[in-house]
Amino acid sequence: MGEIKMPRKNFDEVLKYTEYAMRTTAQKEMTAKEKEFFINETRHNFNNHINPGFLEYRKSAGDDEMAMEWMANGDTFTDLHGKEYIDCLGGFGSFNCGHRHPIIVKNVMNQLEKQPLSSAELIDANRGLLARIIADVTPGDLQYTFFTSSGTEAMESGLKMATLATGRHYYVAFKGDFHGKTMGALSMTSKAHYREPFLPLLQGTRHAPFGDLEYLKKLIDIMEYVGELPAAIIYEPIQGEGGVIVPPDDFIPGIREICIKYDIMMVADEIQVGMGRTGYLFATDYSDVAPDILCLGKSISGSVIPLSACVCTERAFRGMFPDPLLHSTTTGGNPIATAAGIAAFNVILSEDLCGKAQKGEKIFKEGMGVLLKKYPKLFVDFRGRGLMLAMEFCDGDKGYEVVHEAFNRRLLLSGSLINARTIRIEPPLNITEAHIKEAIEILNVSMGIVYNRHFN
Ligand SMILES: Cc1ncc(COP(=O)(O)O)c(C=O)c1O
Repeated sequence: MGEIKMPRKNFDEVLKYTEYAMRTTAQKEMTAKEKEFFINETRHNFNNHINPGFLEYRKSAGDDEMAMEWMANGDTFTDLHGKEYIDCLGGFGSFNCGHRHPIIVKNVMNQLEKQPLSSAELIDANRGLLARIIADVTPGDLQYTFFTSSGTEAMESGLKMATLATGRHYYVAFKGDFHGKTMGALSMTSKAHYREPFLPLLQGTRHAPFGDLEYLKKLIDIMEYVGELPAAIIYEPIQGEGGVIVPPDDFIPGIREICIKYDIMMVADEIQVGMGRTGYLFATDYSDVAPDILCLGKSISGSVIPLSACVCTERAFRGMFPDPLLHSTTTGGNPIATAAGIAAFNVILSEDLCGKAQKGEKIFKEGMGVLLKKYPKLFVDFRGRGLMLAMEFCDGDKGYEVVHEAFNRRLLLSGSLINARTIRIEPPLNITEAHIKEAIEILNVSMGIVYNRHFN
């Protein structure tokens, strides 16, 4: 008989700690002493129970190494010390509707008071309501939605649906792509740093240069020749983590044509660029073509509760009809998450967040044009569509310095997962004009400091 292990802590102590933790959740204000204790607790917990690396590795943080999130509202958030920041990072595309939008919070609270999670056995109405709304607003024949909770799960679902529909086991994605970090999605993600420790991943995955239609045509032609036609071509309409790369206008229509010719599933990853971000409800709308499978995440949650979705045409989905549990998840598309998703579409449509993204783009780009002339050796380019924007600096270190200076002046920005040479601007789509102008002025001051440090 093995030794019976005692718990590490007496349960009475743990119970007291849960009470302390719950008290902090209920608190809106803390005294200076409580704050100090809370910060030290959080430092201890991250160092010992989350990952000490997180306290070292934060691309955006300024001089306050323990800057802690506390409250958020609209296009701003407030740290524990009461400092208010303009949020131009937007949770990497998660806060299109802004923080705590009252319509979304209300719909979630209404559902929370009835039934937060479902039995997963009876029929839950919210899933149907949201799937219907999605079918009505998405282009082409997209009709059936499989709900999940994170972006990477939506991508896993997309890959499985494509394989089920075509019977094929090869996939094509692009250099610079980011599709998530679970095994299947990671196979499509392109950066070696994230892939190498886990190779070989999904066999038969190819990466082509992003935006190069001729290369793609040749690759698919060869894959057909050798009997390895892919189940899917997976693309981001604008690469996000890859540095906000907008492809040539003929690229996405070109993928559509290739997919029709070879009966390949066209899988759009709109987890970051969808839900109005680019000034279009879905970024693929810009090219006026419809994918066979559309993956959504981040902002479909109404910026409140995690939710993601894999939206399919009947052709892409019908393999799931005979056994709906062939691919399933217990909590994906639960009642509170779908309540948030329903309200997210209500807000995006009723408040014209696509139009707001287009207006915001104009003001930001005007400001960036001025800064480009003012700091020529430091700030070398800007690009993007809607409020999916990026500024390119001469190198990653100086880009990072600008982010750091901006954070000290209460503007949150971030680099991409590839590097900090590209700094993204992805604020809530309802960011006020006053905050856009303030953000540009903070960028002006921050770039001025870095410019004088290195070039004067
Ligand atoms: C384009 C894209 N696809 C997939 C993902 C993965 O989403 P998640 O982090 O929710 O798993 C991300 C996340 O940044 C993304 O930007």
